[in-house]
Order: sequence, then structure tokens, then C-alpha cells
Amino acid sequence: MKDILKQRLRINRANPSTRNLVAENTLHPHDFIAPIFITHGKGLKEEIISMPGYYRYSLDMIDDELNQLASVGIQSILIFVKEKENNKDNTGEYAADPNGLMQLSIRHIKKSHPHFLLMTDVALDPYSSFGHDGIVIDGKIINDLTVNALVKMALSHIKAGADWVAPSDMMDGRVAAIRSAFNDSGYHSAGILAYSAKYASSLYGPFRDALDSAPGFGDKKTYQMDPRNGSEGVKEALFDESEGADILMVKPGIFYLDVVQDISKVCTRPIAVYQVSGEYSMIKAASEKGWINEHEAMMESLISFKRAGASIIITYFAKKASQHLIDNYPKI
Ligand code: PBG
Repeated sequence: MKDILKQRLRINRANPSTRNLVAENTLHPHDFIAPIFITHGKGLKEEIISMPGYYRYSLDMIDDELNQLASVGIQSILIFVKEKENNKDNTGEYAADPNGLMQLSIRHIKKSHPHFLLMTDVALDPYSSFGHDGIVIDGKIINDLTVNALVKMALSHIKAGADWVAPSDMMDGRVAAIRSAFNDSGYHSAGILAYSAKYASSLYGPFRDALDSAPGFGDKKTYQMDPRNGSEGVKEALFDESEGADILMVKPGIFYLDVVQDISKVCTRPIAVYQVSGEYSMIKAASEKGWINEHEAMMESLISFKRAGASIIITYFAKKASQHLIDNYPKI
């Protein structure tokens, strides 16, 4: 034994200081993007039943939540809106209305919290009478017509003051179209966070409850990716990179760490992971039952994204994880 053990790997695990010293990955509140759900109305802070501890806010209630996020060091937010039924149609035009809820929210937040990096979801599902991310004709989601609508939607967000758009629709060519529209309109500093490898996942259910955006017919498999494919995810990321995306995203997170790793090996733009609603709800539900420890599972899931090669994490745990980091590393 004495002779064989030239190296004792447990030395690097001996105590917290050593473990911190040799840690290959770390988390910081700056890594997180916090999703924000906004709804019509006044005085509303509604808990999403399938996402315990996560809320939809009316615009007049948002500032307190943003203050809390800022106080734990979060500096980036991603906004989603829940539309009224009578604002939904099959044109996507309302999505680009300068006085729509999204555009009003952008203007409000940019005024009340100008220091936040403000990102917006770009896809038609909250505005679609069919609950799909694109325009539907004869039961099919039409790519190029949808891209035209998405470009208008993205421009309206940037015009209202958003810093970044995050196209989540998975239409072909939308990153190039949005980039070129930004160039033509002089928005040279507007960022594009592309949902590059977005899978047709069972894990979006709680989010669709939150925004009332479940597909009215069929599923999203003609645009979101097939979970059986990994190299196709790399292809999508390479396309988005060449079309001008500033950050490439993989979604969901935990079931797709291989895709994160593969993309991080061949792409040079920063990689983000979206830890989606179902991932949040699974950890919440199991911990509520007392079967796992919420804080430990949360932190372990978040560090797995870093280990796989992502540097940015969109997560419903953003506030809680940041608080946990501050509590455990007070000098952060
Ligand atoms: C809209 C969109 C979805 C999510 C982000 N943007 C839902 C979907 O594609 O059906 C999912 C986020 C989550 O589950 O947390 N296109």
C-alpha cells in the first residue's frame, strides 16, 4: 500500500479550504438570469400552483421583487408575459404592439431598475390562439411567416428599451433575420440570447400553466428538437453562432448536459443553460415530501451546468441560490 499510493487523491478533499482551493467550478449571483412572469391587472402576486414559491406579478407589484433580486446580486432578468385570451390571434401582430403588456413592462422596469440587464422572450405562444410558437396554416407552423412576425416583435422590445432578446421559438433562420433587422435599424448594441438547442421536452408543463400557453393542438415536435438527437443540437448552435447570436443556450438543463458539453467544445460564444420549470418543480416537490434536501439539490444541479461547460444559468432558483451563496461565502 505504502508504495502504490504515490498520490493520495483525498488530500485535495481534506477540509473546506482545500476543497475551495481546488474547486474547478464556482457559482456567483452574476451567473444567473432570473425569469420574471408578468400578468395583466393590479395588485397581483399569484403563486403558480405547479411552481411552489414562484409567482406571477402585475406590473405594479414587480418593483419589490426586483429590489430583492438586486439585493442578492442578480443583475440579469428574462421577462415573460401572460396575455389575455382576447389579445390572442394567429397573426402575432399584438406581440409587436408598442403598448402591449411586454412593451409596457420593459419601459416600466427600465425606468425603475435601469441597472438590470433586461432580456425578453421572443416567441408567439403567449399571443397565439393556437398556443403555438408560430403562425399556423392548415395545422402547420409556417416558418418564414413566423420569422417575419418575430422580427417585428424583437424590434418592438428593443425599441421599448430591452437590452437583449431571447428567441425561444426554434424557427429556422430567425437569429439571422433579427440580427439583420437590428443592424438596419441602428440597434448595434442589442444582444441576442438564442435558444439554440431547445428540445421538445416534458419539462415545460409548469411554465405553460404559468403563462396559459399550452399548445391547443398537437405538440411542438415540428420545431423543438427530438430528445434522441445530440449532434443536431450542436448543429443548431453552430448555425445560431454563424447567424450572429451572442449567447447560445441549451434547454432544458439536467437531461441535456451532454449537449451543453458538446456545444462548449466547438462554439466560441458563451453558453447558457435554461433550468426549466419542470426541473424546478421536481426539486421542489421531492424536497417538500422530505425526500431530498432542497438547498443541496438546488446547488448540485446548478454546478452541474458549470461542469458541463455553461457559464450562464437561467433558473427559477436564481434568488434562492444567490442568497445561499451569500450566506455561505459572506465575502463573495
Ligand atoms: C416559449 C417558452 C417556453 C419556455 C420558455 N419559453 C415554453 C415552450 O416552449 O413551450 C419554457 C420554460 C420553462 O419551462 O421553464 N416558447
